[in-house]
Amino acid sequence: MKTWEDFLAPYKQAVEELKVKLKGMRVQFQLVDSHSPIEFVTGRVKPIASILDKAKVKGIPLDKLETEMQDIAGLRMMCQFVDDIKKVVELLRMRNDFEIIEERDYISHKKASGYRSYHVVIRYPVQTITGEKMILAEIQIRTLAMNFWATIEHSLNYKYKGQIPKDVILRLERAAEAAFRLDEEMSLIRGEIQEAQAFFTRKKEKQQDDDE
Ligand code: GTP
Ligand code: MG
Repeated sequence: MKTWEDFLAPYKQAVEELKVKLKGMRVQFQLVDSHSPIEFVTGRVKPIASILDKAKVKGIPLDKLETEMQDIAGLRMMCQFVDDIKKVVELLRMRNDFEIIEERDYISHKKASGYRSYHVVIRYPVQTITGEKMILAEIQIRTLAMNFWATIEHSLNYKYKGQIPKDVILRLERAAEAAFRLDEEMSLIRGEIQEAQAFFTRKKEKQQDDDE
């Protein structure tokens, strides 16, 4: 039997590579001085305990993890504005280093929990010393507000083992509504925000030039 370490190695490799690649997209926007639709990128390999829990809940046999668990390698791309999400997805579709095999739009169709995000599942080739290995990875693209809500809801689910009390559920629903309105309000003053951010970036750069 293959050890967990062996099984997870290509996923670890993929997450490290994809973090560099996706962060590189942000750097490229900064180089040309235009608003980056990407604010920051995170990535993780699913912990073994979570893989086992999910396999049990979903009835996935352990020898089918490679094909049936899409988020063992997981990346998140956070955006300032809802419209940025579309741009990021388009940029992902243009890339030649992986193939998108599935997209799930929980922004047009939010989940019953109140969860909003755009999910893209990719097939990514990892180069190993024994040849190329294809793995699946899930990229979640969301605004900072969507991320705030999802992170809090995830912690509460963990704390209450999926049985969040009714009054807390109600609060979460209202918080989801508030996060949605925050995204809407920010979109409406997007122009103002970007002018201010460009101004401060220029000021910082000028300061650095003066210091040199
Ligand atoms: P999973 O079995 O969880 O993968 O569900 P799925 O196969 O239907 O995929 P989906 O795209 O719905 O969800 C995948 C991932 O999205 C999860 O592992 C979470 O990271 C995130 N997610 C989905 N729904 C929720 C939710 O209601 N709350 C939070 N906090 N995260 C969610
Ligand atoms: Mg899934």
